[in-house]
Amino acid sequence: MATIKIALLGFGTVGRGVYEVIQSHQNTLYEQTDSHIEVSAVLVQHPNQQRELPEHILVTDSIEDILKTDIHIVIEAIVGENPAYPYLKQAIEKGCHVITANKAMFANHGDELNQLATEHGVKVGYEATTAGGIPIIRTLQQLRVNQVQRIEGILNGTSNYILSKMADEQLEFDDALAQAKELGYAEADPANDIEGLDAFYKLMILSDTAFSSQPDWSDVMINGIKGITLDHIKETISSGKVIKHVATIQNEDGALRASVQPMLLSPDHPLASIKGVDNAITIDTDLLGKVTLQGPGAGRYPTASALLEDLVSVVKEEVQTSVPYRLQKHLQIVKG
Ligand code: HSE
Repeated sequence: MATIKIALLGFGTVGRGVYEVIQSHQNTLYEQTDSHIEVSAVLVQHPNQQRELPEHILVTDSIEDILKTDIHIVIEAIVGENPAYPYLKQAIEKGCHVITANKAMFANHGDELNQLATEHGVKVGYEATTAGGIPIIRTLQQLRVNQVQRIEGILNGTSNYILSKMADEQLEFDDALAQAKELGYAEADPANDIEGLDAFYKLMILSDTAFSSQPDWSDVMINGIKGITLDHIKETISSGKVIKHVATIQNEDGALRASVQPMLLSPDHPLASIKGVDNAITIDTDLLGKVTLQGPGAGRYPTASALLEDLVSVVKEEVQTSVPYRLQKHLQIVKG
């Protein structure tokens, strides 16, 4: 039986989830890939800390030590751009497929990593970067004839959890945020969640996937839910509206216009009823019209779900990069 060796970079909420699901779903993974999927290395900041991992797994803080071994696929669930970006570059250059959940890193370097992967004949999976377990990247990649015109979504689970708890249970902002942290939805430093940057990075990844480019970041208005009080929420409820944190991008005659901000929605708006940690995204296309996908946008198992679906797709060589889209765009330019 073939064995596929995995290195996990990061062993926090998401990394542990991936490890657990690889153990609990060995049979399914075997049926899907015809291989034994083995976690053979784990990269952590403090390798000497006690962890319940079998002795044959290399636990180290050195990416070089990991890449010296015979690894086939690197699954990365580290927070922030560095050192995730140089680590994934090294892994691709070594010939490993890479799968990431890292939105800040991928919004900044996704295109470059996709191109590097193409040069090295390996794949990049990034479904887990955006909207937790919702298969939004796959969905956009499958729309090959449709032209996406607009994307509108709730892309930060923590913000939606906080707003829902404030509206439904009259919790104060800080208490709802503490719950979101406790449940593993918020980042260790939740500033990016509540200041809008997390949703912004995800929107830029959707932009790359749907439009093969991103707007100029300095043109995007980015506001988070920080500063919204229980009094604001009560006022909006009495005016018959709902506050949601909404990320929007649309193609206006070739120019991409984007914003990330709290918005007052009417109760019949498709995003108004999205509660708790759920995310939802409405894609509007020329042929299909509007499609809305909804589901868990954060948390250990929804994110692990997206990473493991990418794992199977990478092994089956079904993962697409955005390079073909960029290539199409390039060809359009060349054809003039
Ligand atoms: N902190 C993020 C969120 C995790 O709340 O959406 C998932 O990306």
